[in-house]
Amino acid sequence: MIPRVKGTQDFIDCTLFNFIIISVKKHLSFYHFTEIQTPILESVDLFVRSLGTHTDVVSKEMFIIEPRQESSEGRICLRPEGTAPVVRAFNEHHIQATPWKVFSWGPMFRYERPQKGRFRQFHQVTMEIIGSGSVAEDAQFITMLDRFFHEALKITNYALVLNFLGCQQDRKNYLVTLKKFMDTDAVAQNVCNLCKERKEHNIMRIFDCKNAQCQEIYRLAPHIADNLCQPCAQEWKELQQQLTLLSVSHVYRPTLVRGLDYYNKTVFEFVSKDLGAQDTFCGGGRYNQLAKELGNKQDYPAIGAAFGMERLMLLLEPLREQLNIPHAPALHMIVPMTPAQHTIALLLADELRAHHIATDIVFEGSMKSMMRKASSTGAAYALIIGETEQENRTVMLKNMTNGTEEAIAQVDLVKMLKR
Ligand code: HAM
Repeated sequence: MIPRVKGTQDFIDCTLFNFIIISVKKHLSFYHFTEIQTPILESVDLFVRSLGTHTDVVSKEMFIIEPRQESSEGRICLRPEGTAPVVRAFNEHHIQATPWKVFSWGPMFRYERPQKGRFRQFHQVTMEIIGSGSVAEDAQFITMLDRFFHEALKITNYALVLNFLGCQQDRKNYLVTLKKFMDTDAVAQNVCNLCKERKEHNIMRIFDCKNAQCQEIYRLAPHIADNLCQPCAQEWKELQQQLTLLSVSHVYRPTLVRGLDYYNKTVFEFVSKDLGAQDTFCGGGRYNQLAKELGNKQDYPAIGAAFGMERLMLLLEPLREQLNIPHAPALHMIVPMTPAQHTIALLLADELRAHHIATDIVFEGSMKSMMRKASSTGAAYALIIGETEQENRTVMLKNMTNGTEEAIAQVDLVKMLKR
């Protein structure tokens, strides 16, 4: 047996997955989002430029496909996330109508160490608004997500954590302040090697360190939200006020920086203790410089987020009964008693399906095992056809719930089953 590739999953039952996709599509339509799809293959450069060379995703986790020797094309990869591709598409198609509110969903790929809720192939729903810089847009966007998780999916055990990373100048100033803190003897000598490395290349990621001693040290670190310019401080205040007025519970987490380089101003995550170590099921924020960074002539302020389908499914599994997951249409099973009735069974099934009556046929086995199969599929009726029924142009209709049987003319079947 050849097993599946490490860090990937088979979805043997897609009911919950499809339910989330259908629900989010409906929810997003109320907020004026439309669906787009971008390729799974993208150029490596797209992610190097957008996420940053020193991020974990780019430096360690990319699935890169080397070009064929004779090809002059650059390196391509399996996309690790959905935001850079959406911005690339925005630029490439010269989208003029802004704000451009779009969502997309599909598989993403990161070469990570697999564990509960962490895969190498996973699925995201990514939602982006490009061309809107108002902080009220942030409030509306975050509210949209919160309403989806809480009201449409009925998840209760989660928290929304927020931080504000300021504008480019704020960030520049803050990096100097943070570096000074990291260079003080008491800090420099006691932080772990990974933090020493991050200090040089991606200093704000020190806050993601899992080492308890480092975390203790960073309790005294300066916070970016305390070092904002006046307009940013005002936006940060407004965002929190608006969320409060919209009854969206949120918690300020001063150390939330997110792992990708393109963020500024608002950043947020939805986290749940029920998920264990990988507790973030949705994350996002503003990325006002990305469109230009990826080649646009002008800046388009933007905000977006993505949730992970696998993590959301972990949260939803225990709630399955409370969700209005639509059932498949009632199925009817045709049971031809011998191969001599196979053709009539095919014709009858074809006619029923033409009238939107879900039908299947059991072709093999003894009468007893065929009836057992029909019963195990949850069929409402078994339509039994033997030699007599074939001659009389009837079927023996067996109600699989109460066991009653009656002979019905084949021409009356559609009317009868539609009742
Ligand atoms: P991210 O935080 O890297 O952000 O991923 C978003 C979500 O994808 C996570 O919260 C998690 O649910 C899921 N996820 C990430 N990696 C894995 C994995 N290895 N296995 C399972 N689930 C995973 C982004 O990707 C940004 N593009 C979000 C964004 C959109 N920001 C602005 N717009």
